[in-house]
Amino acid sequence: MAGGRRETPPASFYGALRRALRAWFRAHARPLPWRETRDPYAIWVSEVMLQQTQIATVIPYYVRFLEAFPTLTHLANAPRERLLELWSGLGYYRRARYLHQAAQHLREKFAGRIPSDYVSLRALPGIGDYTAKAVLSIAFHQPYAVLDGNVARVVARLFALRGNLHQPQFRRAVEGELTQLLSRRLPGDFNQAMMELGQTICQPRAPRC
Ligand code: ADE
Repeated sequence: MAGGRRETPPASFYGALRRALRAWFRAHARPLPWRETRDPYAIWVSEVMLQQTQIATVIPYYVRFLEAFPTLTHLANAPRERLLELWSGLGYYRRARYLHQAAQHLREKFAGRIPSDYVSLRALPGIGDYTAKAVLSIAFHQPYAVLDGNVARVVARLFALRGNLHQPQFRRAVEGELTQLLSRRLPGDFNQAMMELGQTICQPRAPRC
């Protein structure tokens, strides 16, 4: 934010934006394989793969991974080598090791289920703030907004904010707007719609928004 106070838009503005975003996402969402499931385990796997890797690269890995390990128990019981084999080429192999450790921990302590609260999820290896919020909103419909570079750019353009996420003032301003805008009813769709808008339309260069 270039400084100075801004006027807060009226509540109806957020509602209208939310509806427009929802309608756009319903019509244009890409049919990504993790959007065809409501299984928290599968959504967790997708979010870990997407942490540092492009969507197009992730898709075939995600499909193969879930064929090999359809449930958390399959993953927890699998030998580490098999896991790394399936991860081979995706990079950032620590993600695979953490996923395996987390699955084994959940098998022992959570009866093989993915916890649905922030504190328990965040305590698992390999799950940071972003991934915890993504899983909670997408798999459990909890009202957490996720914030990454794509989402920040969309919000900055909508609300005429300037800066980057390393600047606390900018980050706070973006989080404030995002919290007002977030759909409490369908937070997972909302988050994915914001990501998608940033990835496909509201791009850094030559934006089509
Ligand atoms: N990047 C991180 N999570 C994503 C998701 N669920 N859909 C698209 N891109 C993402």
